[in-house]
Amino acid sequence: MGTKGIEIVGMDVNKLLNLLNKAYSDEWLAYYQYWLGAKVVEGPMKEAVITELMEHAADELRHADMLTDRIIQLGGTPVTEPNKWYEMTNCGYDAPDDPYVKKILEQNIGGEQCAIGVYKSLLETTMTKDPVTYNIVLQILQDEVEHEEDLQSLLDDFEMMMKK
Ligand SMILES: [Fe+2]
Ligand SMILES: [Fe+2]
Repeated sequence: MGTKGIEIVGMDVNKLLNLLNKAYSDEWLAYYQYWLGAKVVEGPMKEAVITELMEHAADELRHADMLTDRIIQLGGTPVTEPNKWYEMTNCGYDAPDDPYVKKILEQNIGGEQCAIGVYKSLLETTMTKDPVTYNIVLQILQDEVEHEEDLQSLLDDFEMMMKK
């Protein structure tokens, strides 16, 4: 924990840590949702969908890594109990109980849209207060925007194929 590094944060650090831990919980749940989705998914275009889901899972885990490093840097403690993820999450967890490709894509598009909203808000909160967190959040937001687009174009291809 660097004292000067924390001192320059122009907002309540505990409040910021809580927001970061909430996003951290989202990332773990998103990781698991993608990872399991890639294992169980069934239907047309399955291979392309699995590749995309596995890439996204890896990105969400990397986001959890980025957030936890920042939480520790700010003197906080990352959520230590997985059952707390459920209490802390903004976007929740959508179990892939229906393995059909279309359903899995739709669930994950919903998750990405929620994540985009969360990071947009976190970006606004930190904009003039904490440039270091702002930079991390911006990188994550860029990935989430890309994720939404990847999944929506897969869904478009799927719909097109089913119409033929
Ligand atoms: Fe993420
Ligand atoms: Fe994502």
